[in-house]
Amino acid sequence: MRRSVIALAVLMTWISPALAEDWVPPVTDPLVQKECGACHMAFQPAFLPARSWNRMMDELSDHFGEDASLPADKTQAIRAYLTANAGDVQMKGRAWKYMKWVSPGGTPQKITENPDFERKHRFADKVWKDPKVVTKSNCPACHRAADKGYYEDD
Ligand code: HEC
Ligand code: HEC
Repeated sequence: MRRSVIALAVLMTWISPALAEDWVPPVTDPLVQKECGACHMAFQPAFLPARSWNRMMDELSDHFGEDASLPADKTQAIRAYLTANAGDVQMKGRAWKYMKWVSPGGTPQKITENPDFERKHRFADKVWKDPKVVTKSNCPACHRAADKGYYEDD
């Protein structure tokens, strides 16, 4: 009896990050961290489907009004990482909730326009205009462990 309780506790600690609703696997690739973390946090690939990342990597020269283009070899390596870890490929942690709202052929480019994001982030205008926040994409302004994939602290 006692032994099975301990075994269960161990199992729970081991699997809980993957089951936690507000967790997504963090970016572990140093190239992605560096190149896609230069202007904003390197967003976790689980928040968008593979076809969105493919489109984004095709359009880096006009990335939300910025030129974020990279040499072909780096573009290829980053594309491979993002698509292999995309939300519709891994379906880990919170990814399935985000994917549920993406239309079957859709290639959304903004995590912050996903209805699941909008549902959890209905704050007054003054919150978004706070100089520490400025933009919805600034996840670490409110989620201290955002770069580790944890979004439960608010
Ligand atoms: C030269 C600066 C720059 C670089 C480098 C850059 N980005 Fe961006 N990115 C931006 C800007 C500006 C926005 C728009 C932010 C906003 O609307 O608040 C953005 C937005 C995004 C968004 C949407 C965020 C949201 O609001 O949901 C994603 C996803 C994204 N970038 C991924 C990437 C990836 C992947 C890379 C690496 C290949 C990358 N970015 C590199 C400047 C950059
Ligand atoms: C202005 C502060 C702020 C910003 C910026 C922000 N969030 Fe949040 N976020 C919150 C708060 C507060 C909650 C809790 C809301 C709730 O539980 O209803 C939350 C909830 C979440 C949740 C759900 C966690 C849960 O409890 O179910 C996720 C996932 C999340 N945010 C991801 C993001 C991502 C990704 C970004 C950046 C693209 C981001 N957030 C930007 C404040 C923010």
